[in-house]
Amino acid sequence: MPSFATRAKLFLAAILVAAVPVAAFSFQPPATTTDAPAAATTDTAAGDPASLSSYPVTEFMNASLLEGADITKGQQVFARTGACLTCHGWNGDGMGKNPRSEGDAAKLRESQLDTQTFIDTISCGIPGTPMPYHNNQAYKKPEICFDQVMADFDAANAPRKGKSLRPADIINLVAYIQTHVQGQGPTTLEQCQEFFGASASKACTNLE
Ligand code: HEC
Repeated sequence: MPSFATRAKLFLAAILVAAVPVAAFSFQPPATTTDAPAAATTDTAAGDPASLSSYPVTEFMNASLLEGADITKGQQVFARTGACLTCHGWNGDGMGKNPRSEGDAAKLRESQLDTQTFIDTISCGIPGTPMPYHNNQAYKKPEICFDQVMADFDAANAPRKGKSLRPADIINLVAYIQTHVQGQGPTTLEQCQEFFGASASKACTNLE
């Protein structure tokens, strides 16, 4: 009988195998409207997902959980589909203007979470705080989030619902955060220009 850890790894590997083709087919080249954030990297050919292998593996990263992740797509999830930026700020300094946690969200640049905990936190949120869940089955089926369902919480501590994200997009998002946000130190003009692309001259003036 394989150990629990081995079985857990096999299980996660199976999920990844299932998730990767979805990520591959859903890849869309970054939008090119002027006020949209730029692609995470500009040196990859259009349609070629920014590869994780061009970034250092940090102590917090479990690269096997992120295999096949599309960092460019992850940035789009952070900035748009997931609306993370509204609370966490474009650079993850926690200073987003969303009134639900204005200037008071977690500083993702300083986060010490590992890959699995990022995935769980984004999927299930942090009940009792403004951090919402993003797996739309969370707290409906107990097996998704820590054997808990909505009825287990009183109103004040009930998990908040965020944007619905597919599992493959949560992987893309974590790959983006762990390569471009976590451990990146003080925000630089260069990071701002990379994020905002064509609209950087307007968006990054406070860093010039
Ligand atoms: C409505 C505001 C809001 C939105 C939207 C939001 N967050 Fe959060 N997030 C928070 C707050 C507030 C916390 C801190 C919760 C606490 O008190 O522990 C947090 C905590 C976190 C943490 C835990 C960090 C750590 O080091 O413990 C992660 C990771 C995270 N958020 C990622 C995301 C991502 C990725 C998205 C987008 C999919 C997102 N959040 C969307 C408000 C938000």
